[in-house]
Amino acid sequence: MRKLAIGIDLGGTNIKGGVLDRAGRLLRRDSIETEGERGREHVIGRVVGLIESLAAASGTPRTDFAGVGLGAPGPMSHKAGVIHAAPNLPGWSSVPIRDILAQRTGLKVTLENDANAAAFGEFTAGAGRGVGRMFMMTLGTGVGGGLVIDGRLERGHFDNAGEIGHMILFPNGRPCPCGQRGCFERYASANAVSERFVEALRAGEPSSLTLTAPPPQAPEVLAAAEAGDGLAARVWRETVEALALGCVNVQHLLNPELIVLAGGLIAAGDALLRPLREAFSRATWRIAPDQPRIEPATLGGDAGVIGAAALAFE
Ligand code: BGC
Repeated sequence: MRKLAIGIDLGGTNIKGGVLDRAGRLLRRDSIETEGERGREHVIGRVVGLIESLAAASGTPRTDFAGVGLGAPGPMSHKAGVIHAAPNLPGWSSVPIRDILAQRTGLKVTLENDANAAAFGEFTAGAGRGVGRMFMMTLGTGVGGGLVIDGRLERGHFDNAGEIGHMILFPNGRPCPCGQRGCFERYASANAVSERFVEALRAGEPSSLTLTAPPPQAPEVLAAAEAGDGLAARVWRETVEALALGCVNVQHLLNPELIVLAGGLIAAGDALLRPLREAFSRATWRIAPDQPRIEPATLGGDAGVIGAAALAFE
């Protein structure tokens, strides 16, 4: 039996990779910048390079690898191995990435949505262990979602179940690169915190922070909010409220036992979770007693890599 699998998590900012054994142990990991602005071919070359370096560093012959699981953002066909589009990766449309990578690495490749892979990772080894029905949201460059029911990843008929980042939260709201307006991820991703803060600064709203290059990111906005900056506090509060609405909608649609939050934004810890749980309780039903738990992911940045590799074993 082939004993190892490589998991790759292709994100808008970083490409993470790791080697997993069948016992679910992450034997090695690596991370490189995506450099998405340099175009699709460049990024594919970086993914191939990462797979090659992980395989070589493991010191194990190719024949010992069950394959590569690739978690990638955007609507896709898992069955056909094609990424339809990646809202946060410029130039990625209709990319038959599974076959491209298989041909260039000689390994069997499984394509999965990045948030699905991360949700499966948290289910197998993290916050969702033993949970019958969990939904995970990844709050990073965009917002992704993944649903695991009775140990099985629910992909949906067209393989795009759980694309919660593009649930429309505010009709005619902020434009999204996906073509819609008012998408959840334009309000609840780590990037959205920075974008909305910068927009307000540009519009002349007073703040203790100034427009720097690169502009203030979510951690700086949060730090300013905690230090009493009114604008930063408003942007943070609105982010938390948008997230709470997302959780309410997930509760009603899917009725999960657990909602796991992952991605860059959860580095905020209790500064996010405490007001989020409060906002969720205020916004949701009072007419039914049961509410899902809202918990942070426990695998940190490794969930996507672990989940993608675990799916490669399947
Ligand atoms: C994409 C999702 C992805 C998420 C996080 C969204 O914009 O549509 O497929 O999971 O970003 O990367």
